[in-house]
Amino acid sequence: MASSSLHLPLSLLCYLAVVSRVVADDPVPFAAKWSDLSFGPDGPWPAVEVTLGIDQTIALYPGREFQTFLLTSDYCDGNDTCPGSKAHLYNKAQAQVDSTGSAAQIQWAPGPDYMVGLKMAGENAESWIDNIDLGGLTVPNASLALLSKSYTAYPDGTWYPLSVGCLGVGAPKTVNQTFTITDGPAINASLIPGWLHAQNEIPSNSFAMHIGSVNPTMPGSLYFGGYDQNRIIGDIITETDDYTKAISLSDISIRVVDGSSPWAFESKSGLLAANNASISSGGIKVSVDGCSPYLTLPKSTCDAIAEHLPVKYNKNLGLYIWQEDDPKYSQIVSSASTLDFTFLAGSNTQHVNISVPFRHLNLTLTEPLVDNDQQYFPCYTGSSGGYTLGRAFLQDAFVGANWDSKTWWLAQAPGPNIPSAEVIALTEDDTEVKASTNDWKESWSGSVGVPPMSFPMGSLAQFSFTRCKQPIRQKKQLLTVSFKWKALTPEDVAGSQTVSSPNATNSATSSPSSPSSSSSSSGLSTGAAAGIGIGVGVAALVAIAALAFFFFPSP
Ligand SMILES: *[C@@H]1O[C@H](CO)[C@@H](O)[C@H](O)[C@H]1NC(C)=O
Ligand SMILES: *[C@@H]1O[C@H](CO)[C@@H](O)[C@H](O)[C@H]1NC(C)=O
Ligand SMILES: *[C@@H]1O[C@H](CO)[C@@H](O)[C@H](O)[C@H]1NC(C)=O
Ligand SMILES: *[C@@H]1O[C@H](CO)[C@@H](O)[C@H](O)[C@H]1NC(C)=O
Ligand SMILES: *[C@@H]1O[C@H](CO)[C@@H](O)[C@H](O)[C@H]1NC(C)=O
Ligand SMILES: *[C@@H]1O[C@H](CO)[C@@H](O)[C@H](O)[C@H]1NC(C)=O
Ligand SMILES: *[C@@H]1O[C@H](CO)[C@@H](O)[C@H](O)[C@H]1NC(C)=O
Ligand SMILES: *[C@@H]1O[C@H](CO)[C@@H](O)[C@H](O)[C@H]1NC(C)=O
Repeated sequence: MASSSLHLPLSLLCYLAVVSRVVADDPVPFAAKWSDLSFGPDGPWPAVEVTLGIDQTIALYPGREFQTFLLTSDYCDGNDTCPGSKAHLYNKAQAQVDSTGSAAQIQWAPGPDYMVGLKMAGENAESWIDNIDLGGLTVPNASLALLSKSYTAYPDGTWYPLSVGCLGVGAPKTVNQTFTITDGPAINASLIPGWLHAQNEIPSNSFAMHIGSVNPTMPGSLYFGGYDQNRIIGDIITETDDYTKAISLSDISIRVVDGSSPWAFESKSGLLAANNASISSGGIKVSVDGCSPYLTLPKSTCDAIAEHLPVKYNKNLGLYIWQEDDPKYSQIVSSASTLDFTFLAGSNTQHVNISVPFRHLNLTLTEPLVDNDQQYFPCYTGSSGGYTLGRAFLQDAFVGANWDSKTWWLAQAPGPNIPSAEVIALTEDDTEVKASTNDWKESWSGSVGVPPMSFPMGSLAQFSFTRCKQPIRQKKQLLTVSFKWKALTPEDVAGSQTVSSPNATNSATSSPSSPSSSSSSSGLSTGAAAGIGIGVGVAALVAIAALAFFFFPSP
């Protein structure tokens, strides 16, 4: 209710902002728009929202190099309950570009394996071009790949349908992909940041993202031509060329950051190479991929981590199911403890840690992967050759690339207590991004005051910000204590001190419902919190709304 009454003044502000931009005309970083919904039978995950061709709004996970991969309306064959329908499917018949002509004649057919770390099966994709509207800026003739008969293949051999495509975020030194066609001249298909930079809309051919998370609610951040400095904390890993190129992971550890330990230790390292003599002290090579869901690692590594968790291995899916009736489950997934990934950076002498709180590793499997929803731990053993850190990891990592300077970065991202965006432009020559001075632990534990002007997540803040491109600053997100982790007390962890191992019979069947420590997830209801947040800002905006009514007849 409140939000609809605020749209009018915001569109006025947007209008003014756009006008002032036309006058100034300096290239500025562009923020992609995030969907209000969440997606995936292995998430839930955040996704960005773009409009293709003639008015086809589609949600996509960001993170593909080169082409944007779309699921077509053929994918579900008119089946409304097909998992791909929620994010919306692409209909070739509603292309804005040349749907019968040259686009259909591009000879290059990319394989279905557009993500690393999860095996794909089925038919090749079809190359295509169409316009992509990012919410204020349109990229004509964007390079696309259409998936109509491709599936994910799990360890037991079952193929499952995809639910969301993947947005192209550019590629090293590339503005256009040039495709030959059967008849006539080659076709140029644009990559998003390359085209935007070539048109002088953004300061460089670059992207930067932190996907955020659905639980706890943390809005995503995706910029072209710049980055939000507040999404980077601590040391930065700097690499060259492709961002999905494999880099060195030297260890994985479990660590208690605050409070009592739910384990018999405060930290446990050496988990990457445990029980596997063929993994040397140098570790393994892993790719980072926003199109891929899991932490795809050697089975020996997943087992070594799982040994300390109340989980059960699901052989068919190659994933680990949390035993929700084990009291250790809710202790661990709400606690101030993390899975730490230690990378060997640049010079191969510098170690950089990226911590993923267990709070982020309590994910949900839904249909079609399972019949009834199950909480799972996203270590995945069905590697198709490449070990991969996907969205489960990217909830806590900043990743970005300057394609002009062929440089990319990986760093720790903050927890849910995030200050307003501090957007910094990347120029063509930049080979560095700068970290904020924010404290990572605070971002997960800090007490959060209600900011002076705040909006409910995902609606107005993003609306105003993305439609208006740069000029209007992102409003501080509304946060409540419920998003924090919980530093466990000695009482919380009293009782069963050891975690039942994966193949032990479950001794905790006597406690049917999960223990009360999970009640920290209540807190202020969104409605109540939104009321507090909007209260202050509303008076001012209502005044503008009243003004706007005089100037613009309502539609
Ligand atoms: C539609 O898709 C769902 C999920 O993939 C499947 O269970 C169902 O059988 C399909 N229905 C038809 C009519 O194909
Ligand atoms: C898009 O591609 C078509 C076909 O190649 C071409 O005719 C058209 O000029 C292109 N549009 C732009 C804006 O580059
Ligand atoms: C990219 O392709 C478009 C047509 O789709 C063309 O207008 C533009 O000049 C090309 N840019 C480069 C750098 O090749
Ligand atoms: C495609 O881009 C190249 C430069 O990369 C340019 O020479 C050519 O004219 C473009 N073709 C079209 C059809 O725009
Ligand atoms: C041990 O590590 C090697 C090298 O990564 C891998 O190929 C193998 O599958 C691992 N063994 C197990 C049991 O995971
Ligand atoms: C685990 O995640 C589910 C789904 O988001 C949530 O309902 C549940 O409260 C979480 N469990 C704990 C103990 O936080
Ligand atoms: C990385 O994490 C491990 C395990 O928590 C710790 O032993 C190590 O000191 C950390 N390294 C750095 C550079 O912070
Ligand atoms: C599983 O059970 C076997 C035999 O009971 C035991 O040797 C092994 O250590 C157990 N595995 C784990 C991870 O506890």
